[in-house]
Amino acid sequence: MKQFRAGIIGATGMVGQRFATLLKDHPWFQVTALAASGRSAGKTYEEAVGSRWAMQEPIPESMKQMIMLDASQDIEKMKELVDFVFCAVDMPKDQIKALEEAYAKAEIPVVSNNSAHRGTADVPMIVPELNAEHTEIIPAQRKRLGTKRGFIAVKSNCSLQSYVPALHPIKDLYGLNQVLVCTYQAISGAGKTFATWPEMVDNLIPYIGGEEEKSEQEPLKLWGKVEGYRIVNADKPQFTAQCLRVPVSDGHTAAVFASFDKKPDLEEIKKVWANFRGPAQELHLPSAPKQFIHYFEENDQPQIKSARELEGGMAISVGRLRPDTQYDLKFVCMSHNTLRGAAGGAVLMAELLAAKGYLD
Ligand SMILES: NC(=O)c1ccc[n+]([C@@H]2O[C@H](COP(=O)([O-])OP(=O)(O)OC[C@H]3O[C@@H](n4cnc5c(N)ncnc54)[C@H](OP(=O)(O)O)[C@@H]3O)[C@@H](O)[C@H]2O)c1
Repeated sequence: MKQFRAGIIGATGMVGQRFATLLKDHPWFQVTALAASGRSAGKTYEEAVGSRWAMQEPIPESMKQMIMLDASQDIEKMKELVDFVFCAVDMPKDQIKALEEAYAKAEIPVVSNNSAHRGTADVPMIVPELNAEHTEIIPAQRKRLGTKRGFIAVKSNCSLQSYVPALHPIKDLYGLNQVLVCTYQAISGAGKTFATWPEMVDNLIPYIGGEEEKSEQEPLKLWGKVEGYRIVNADKPQFTAQCLRVPVSDGHTAAVFASFDKKPDLEEIKKVWANFRGPAQELHLPSAPKQFIHYFEENDQPQIKSARELEGGMAISVGRLRPDTQYDLKFVCMSHNTLRGAAGGAVLMAELLAAKGYLD
């Protein structure tokens, strides 16, 4: 595979740090530029990230001394240094939209973790195992932007990275029509650690701004279809969600209840999950988990501490599949929110885009 030079915008943040550690030995991508706000610009990466470094492993040696750029002011410099960028920034939505479009218009493809463009009809939102064919919208987006190379592709929200993959291979099998989901989300999802958010020790906050809407709406875009110049969202199933912040460092859990047109066979579902493969596995993308969905028979699994790092944090863990008194079935599932749910999922998406020639 051809080698690509990658930039990280928002490199000092929680997701940006994950990008740095995931990309340090990547077989296809080499990090050649780091950017964040004007507060970080001009400092070395080590100085800029300072005491905020929250990863288990140290700052990659190859990046420590890199001089940070200003994401908004230095687009021309970035253009000389990179073939594409990853973007994960904490800014107002309209500013993120404008920033990502500015990079795309400068012919720098943007692989984004931000939510700003998830609702844009010609911006693909991709989980490579589920809807890799949504890359087909990219030529239409390039036409709108007036670009040859530049485009934006986004990752979906971290909350749904466990339950949508689990529902995906059974949705057409039995005709999925209703889903109720409660998510229990880690503090790293807010860019925090227990050191920076001590109020979360022995606590639970029953509200995460904007998260319930994303958890209900984004699955319908993932299951939508490319039609002409836009992605048309699926019109079912109906989702209802409640999202809670829990005192966990990394790993989002979801409790799911689902109803179908046809009566589901629970043993058959376990086999479908065990055999489920998507384009990420078929194309042997470097970050793809070999086994995407791991089912646990034990009643007390999957637990965050033992399951979140499965297959480099890129696998989905599912357990407790059983009948329900009001819905057809219920189960619990879990995924690592800053790996599969953020930086790891974005790296996997970039690998898909590279394998399909969109980063050439
Ligand atoms: N954490 C997760 O699990 C997760 C999952 C999925 C998606 N996301 C999304 O990823 C994005 C980043 O999240 P995070 O948790 O990494 O946030 P974070 O830890 O708060 O980091 C924010 C980053 O944004 C940069 N930034 C702030 N203002 C900027 C500006 N005006 N121009 C350029 N860069 C600026 C910061 O740079 P400075 O250091 O220079 O201030 C920092 O690098 C958010 O949109 C979030 O919704 C997060």
